[in-house]
Amino acid sequence: MEKIVSLCKRRGFIFPGSEIYGGIAGIYDYGPLGVEFKRNIKESWREAILRKESNIFEVDASILMQRKVWEASGHTSAGFTDPLQECKKCHHRFRADHLAEEGITICPDCGGGLTEPQRFNLLVETHLGPVKDDASLTYLRGETTQGIYVNYGNIKSSMHPRLPFGIGQIGKAFRNEITPGHFTYRMREFEQMEQQYFVHPDDADTYFDYWKKKRLAWYVDLGIKKEHLRLRPHAKDELAHYARAAEDIEYQFPFGWHEIEGIHNRGDWDLSRHSKFSGEDLSEIDEKTGKRFYPYIIETSAGADRAALAFLVDAYEEVAGGRTTTTKSVKEMEVVLRLHKKLAPYKVAVLPLSKKEPLVKLAREVYGQLRRVGFMCDYDETQSIGKRYRRQDEIGTPYCITVDFESLENPPAGGDVTVRDRDTMGQERIAIAKLSDFLKENIYD
Ligand code: GAP
Repeated sequence: MEKIVSLCKRRGFIFPGSEIYGGIAGIYDYGPLGVEFKRNIKESWREAILRKESNIFEVDASILMQRKVWEASGHTSAGFTDPLQECKKCHHRFRADHLAEEGITICPDCGGGLTEPQRFNLLVETHLGPVKDDASLTYLRGETTQGIYVNYGNIKSSMHPRLPFGIGQIGKAFRNEITPGHFTYRMREFEQMEQQYFVHPDDADTYFDYWKKKRLAWYVDLGIKKEHLRLRPHAKDELAHYARAAEDIEYQFPFGWHEIEGIHNRGDWDLSRHSKFSGEDLSEIDEKTGKRFYPYIIETSAGADRAALAFLVDAYEEVAGGRTTTTKSVKEMEVVLRLHKKLAPYKVAVLPLSKKEPLVKLAREVYGQLRRVGFMCDYDETQSIGKRYRRQDEIGTPYCITVDFESLENPPAGGDVTVRDRDTMGQERIAIAKLSDFLKENIYD
């Protein structure tokens, strides 16, 4: 994990939040490569959920909602709490369930005695309006889910879907986690990619199964090794307050198997509760029986930051003794980030073989051409070609284009360049005019 954290900071993926002021626990900022990488993850989620499936709609609801929403959802009551123990000496706080798992009975920081576990609510409070009193209290959303439910009626009346149908949303969520940690695994501000699939109660088991398989396959299709993923059903006493059944997709992190996504059968909890609390009837009429019922909800709830961390960990590879054949002097360990090409922040890097004017001019033209057609593209003319390849390997760039003296023959349309593949290190000559098609076919098709 230390190596991943260091690479993320050194190469502009992820930085500690407010770092110049000493940081803030559980908060991270994404740098230029991290933003691009996470955007690619979110786009792949959109592609899988919203474009490849039919009858699923996207919303972008507000982070701030009526306080009543959180009362209806059960988040202000015991359901959304973690057990907390405080050290009587240094007053540091710990998750009681985590301490129990590791058999720890005294303060891990100073050895002091611990209080009895108390329930601690995870919602982050804020106040809206000029007066900071109980009436102005509300919360930063603890999950994106509720923004979907409050718009259920709006989607029905504007888009006229029939069951089964889904509503998806990507957005920030906030939780006052007692023990944030493991880098971006447990944060206090994070991003979720959630989908709520509304079904007739008779179909709930079928769709629970369907989405479990679909979501597991999404991670595998994007390059995570199958053996590093597993589905883990929740035991009855572990189920969230809203869930009838739940299975976690877990990834084998360096710190153990942990949840990256939850698939839940939420039953009729949400629509019945929101109907009751808001006074708006969100039930449906069964066409066969003529009776009213609340649709059941199958939820797929993924974290964009946890997925990003899993993709990074899985892609990280160290090659002892180096792999770059062009620099014979380099014998130390080299890092290759074997990210799926669709997820890699830069798709391609343009590297002129030397800093000589005609090469640089042509290389800049190739770089501009690829950017104009939409490829995230890096340009680098510093240091030896071997070192530049290594830099690109370390950030997962699938292709490097070298512009050399041969490329100057009949430029720009007739010239060709060397294209190096990150994974095979194979090199081939490709006409500049065909680069865009080559990249499109090899990255997206
Ligand atoms: N709507 C259901 C829900 O929010 P959850 O299991 O609490 O369920 C779903 O969260 C996903 O959100 C998790 O699998 C994880 O990927 C992500 N997530 C939850 N808490 C997180 C945190 N503190 N930091 C980063 N990601 C988190």
